[in-house]
Parts: sequence; structure tokens; C-alpha cells
Amino acid sequence: MKQYRLAVVGATGMVGQEFIKILEQRNFPVSDIQLYTSDGSAGKKLYVKHQETIVKEINHESFAGMDIVFFSAGTNVSRHFVATAVRAGALVIDNSDAWRLEGDFPLVVPEVNIEDIIRHKGVIVNPTSPVIQMVVVLSPLHRVNPIKRIIVTSYQSVAGAGLTAIEELTTQVRQVLDGQPAIPRVFPHQIAFNLLPEVDVFMDTGYTKEERKLLEETRRIMHAPEIEVSATCVRVPVFIGNSEAVHIEFTHPFPPEEARRILSHAPGVRVLDDTTVSLYPQPWAIAGTDECYVGRLRKDSAFKNGLAMWIVADNIRKGAALNAIQILEEIIKRDWLVPGG
Ligand SMILES: NC(=O)c1ccc[n+]([C@@H]2O[C@H](COP(=O)([O-])OP(=O)(O)OC[C@H]3O[C@@H](n4cnc5c(N)ncnc54)[C@H](OP(=O)(O)O)[C@@H]3O)[C@@H](O)[C@H]2O)c1
Repeated sequence: MKQYRLAVVGATGMVGQEFIKILEQRNFPVSDIQLYTSDGSAGKKLYVKHQETIVKEINHESFAGMDIVFFSAGTNVSRHFVATAVRAGALVIDNSDAWRLEGDFPLVVPEVNIEDIIRHKGVIVNPTSPVIQMVVVLSPLHRVNPIKRIIVTSYQSVAGAGLTAIEELTTQVRQVLDGQPAIPRVFPHQIAFNLLPEVDVFMDTGYTKEERKLLEETRRIMHAPEIEVSATCVRVPVFIGNSEAVHIEFTHPFPPEEARRILSHAPGVRVLDDTTVSLYPQPWAIAGTDECYVGRLRKDSAFKNGLAMWIVADNIRKGAALNAIQILEEIIKRDWLVPGG
């Protein structure tokens, strides 16, 4: 089997670390791995497949000879270095939001629109985490009964804001329990024992950029520009896992038992739905796993032809690192590493 030379930019981060872990777990065919960060972590030792690997500071020479580069170090780093990596001949999977709302790069969730990777010109974009889990669950339903409208409220874990946010929640929980003031640094207000209806920046419309991504990215990935989406994204004091309350209006009536039957066979989806024993997906319980979980499936009482449901997934795995690796596995399977290949 062919082996690939791979670079990870942002290797010490939440997503970068999970990416390396999943490469090992899935035995991804890697012959050489290079790890890049800012100068702050350069020189650190990380272990990949039990081999000590020294982290290096990224520069414009970092990508020579690489087949694949995974960027997960924020928007500015991607904007600055992605073009260099492509010119060096690598396929880039970009996990930042540099090109999620603009640009022509394919935005891909393998269970939904894998065919879009064929038109890659060297860059494929990993979508926003709450979008990924929502489209994995909704697209099998949309295929049999087109969706007209979605109202979604997301409950997003602090892991989505990186390692410093995990530290902030941990510290603040201790500060509050010790009767000390909790000092916010990453988030605009205290996150411990609190909820913040603010994920990413506010826009002129009154929605946040994260909420806009739920509209725009959903339409692009599902190839459904007519779907209306109204989102409210809430940061919650949960370490890992995004949860979503989703209300969907379909074109025709959708009996809940029919939706449950379709979802029980859908790729990447697991139904956890038995209210008689309080069975429904919870972020704490599913952290570290790969599927998108759905429960509380019921007829929506406000929408004609509506369903309501509760969707939960690990935002670091399926919402970021795992989705990127699944894209790469599909590309390798089809021999589409080279654009137009
Ligand atoms: N966490 C999530 O759920 C999630 C989901 C989807 C997408 N994302 C996106 O993925 C990216 C990384 O997120 P994360 O949660 O892993 O963040 P993180 O834990 O804060 O890690 C950031 C990583 O980027 C590196 N980095 C920062 N500035 C850099 C620079 N100037 N040059 C090179 N490397 C630099 C850091 O290296 P140092 O150790 O040197 O600081 C670290 O390895 C972000 O774009 C984020 O929006 C995150």
C-alpha cells in the first residue's frame, strides 16, 4: 500500500493532537510525518506511533516533499501558508474558517457530499463542527423528503475554542467553588456555571458568524440553496461535545418512526432514543467516539410536516479531526490526491 508524507500544522492543539491520535488508531498509511506549530512550542517532543518527533516552527519551506498538509492553527496561519503548501505540490485539508464562507474550495462531509472532492484544486475545507453533525443526520432525511426550513440551537463545548478554553473552564470552576472571582480571558464573560449566547463574532444582521456558517455551510454541503436556517449558538460549560436542538420543516409529512428507521441505517449516525428509560445522547457520554448521535425524535408541534430532534457529537473528532481523516481516506481510495487525478 502506498505510504504518504504528511505535515500537521497546529500539532500541539486540541484538534492537531486528536488528528495524530486518529491517524494511529486508523493506521493511516504515513511514511513521514512533520509537526509544525508557532515558535512557542517549537522543540517540544511529541510521540507518533511510539516514535519521538520534534515539533518545528512553521515557515515557507516546511512543505517541500509533502503529499498532504493538515492545517489546524487558526485562520491567519491558513491564510498565510496554505498557498505555499499547494505550490509545493501538497493536498491541503484546511480546518480553519479562512474559506468556509467564501472561496471556491470544496467543503466536505464524507457521508454527505464526498463527490465534491473531485473538483478540488489542492485545497479541501473541513466544515464548522456544529454543521458537520447536523448535516450527517439531516441529509439522509432530506434525500427522501426535501427540507424547507431548520431552526437550530447549538450547545457548544469549550473544546471548540481550543486548549486555552479548556484550561479557562477548569480554572473558573475551581475559582467559583473557592468563592473567588472567575476571571474571563478566552470568553467575554465567565463560562463556569454559565451560558454565553455568543460563538464567534457578531455580524450586522444580529446573528454571529458561527450562526451564519450554520446557514451557508449547510446549504453548500447539502447542495440545497433553498433551505432556510435560523440558528442560535450557545457556548456551554461542557468540556467536549456539541449538542443541538433541531426543528425541521419538510416538504411532506414525516412520521417519526419512518425517520428513525432511515437514521438507524444512515452512515455515521447512531440513534439513541428511548424516553421510557431516559435514553438520549449526552455530550459527556459520547466524548471520544466517532458517530453523530440522535435522540428525542418526535413530531414537531409548531411546524407543519415537522420533526424535532436532539443531535450530539464529539466536536474534536467528527467535528474536526476525524472528518478530515475520513476525507483523506476517501481521496486515497479513489486516487484523487492530485487535482483532476
Ligand atoms: N476545537 C474544535 O472543536 C475545532 C473544531 C473545528 C475547527 N477548529 C479550528 O481548528 C483550529 C485549531 O483549533 P484548536 O482547538 O486545536 O486550537 P488550539 O488548541 O488553541 O491549538 C492551536 C494550535 O495552533 C498552533 N498555532 C497557533 N498560532 C500559530 C502560528 N502563528 N503558527 C503556527 N502554529 C500556530 C498552536 O501552536 P503552539 O503550541 O505553538 O501555540 C497549536 O498547535 C482553529 O482554526 C479552530 O477554529 C477547532
